Amino acid sequence: MPVEDATISVMDRGFRFCDGVYEVVPVFGNKLLRVDEHLNRSQNSLNRISLSNPPSDEQWREIFQGLLESNAGDDRAIYLQISRGAYPKRDLTIKVGFPATVFAMVLQVTPPDIEVSSAGISVITVDDFRWAACDIKSTSLVANVMLKQQAIAAGVEDAILIKNCMVSEGTASNVFIVKDNVLITPPTGHKLLPGITRDLVIEIARNNTILVEEREVKEAELYTADEIWMTSSTREIAPVIRLNSEVVGCGAAGEMWKRVMDLYQQYKLLLRSGNE
Ligand code: PDD
Repeated sequence: MPVEDATISVMDRGFRFCDGVYEVVPVFGNKLLRVDEHLNRSQNSLNRISLSNPPSDEQWREIFQGLLESNAGDDRAIYLQISRGAYPKRDLTIKVGFPATVFAMVLQVTPPDIEVSSAGISVITVDDFRWAACDIKSTSLVANVMLKQQAIAAGVEDAILIKNCMVSEGTASNVFIVKDNVLITPPTGHKLLPGITRDLVIEIARNNTILVEEREVKEAELYTADEIWMTSSTREIAPVIRLNSEVVGCGAAGEMWKRVMDLYQQYKLLLRSGNE
């Protein structure tokens, strides 16, 4: 249905409690990028909040196909959201089996232009005051909104979140550093979202004999890194050229970024041609 006609109840727990989860699945041509991984992550998020998943993976695929057919385009993304439904009473208790609210739509996304992207972004570090379950792709994004706003107020594009002197992630992305030709990114766990782009970047790098370490990254290491990147489904791989007014590496997108971004674009071409 047209987006203007889609409504949900004001009693919906997604609206009242942010009691739900979401996913953003990139689409190139008509091909969904890593759809199994996105559906798995969605299931993990649902399990973590004890919300039974009404559509099966097979049903989701049919929903996605229908949406892509009725929303022509090339590069797009599917947004999906599942909330715990419209309970008649305002009560935190979960009613097992209560019908969830299921919503999906096509987002028009412009994938980053390589030229524009290679100009890099400026970021600040901010205190990661979010909760201890950041692996859940929860619709409770108010802390992320506040942290992003700190970055905007400081006149930069984004923020790298720091918890106990360690890097966790970006406001809506994962963080990598490059040091002496080794890619380093914090390990998955409750402190960050296990990004599908993060995993794909690791896979592509390892397949091309680039060394990758998944380990804790100290805040101090950001200042001595040769390169810093932020990765996400919509942003792909964004090079950071300025951190808290300090120049990162050579102050421009680095050689490793060029290499891995090129490999990432090749992967997208393979996906489009069905040879992934
Ligand atoms: N966000 N960390 C956070 C907090 C995120 O919100 C996201 C993605 C990521 C990267 O995940 P992935 O590589 O699977 O996109 C990491 C999406 C794009 C969003 O909120 O729109």
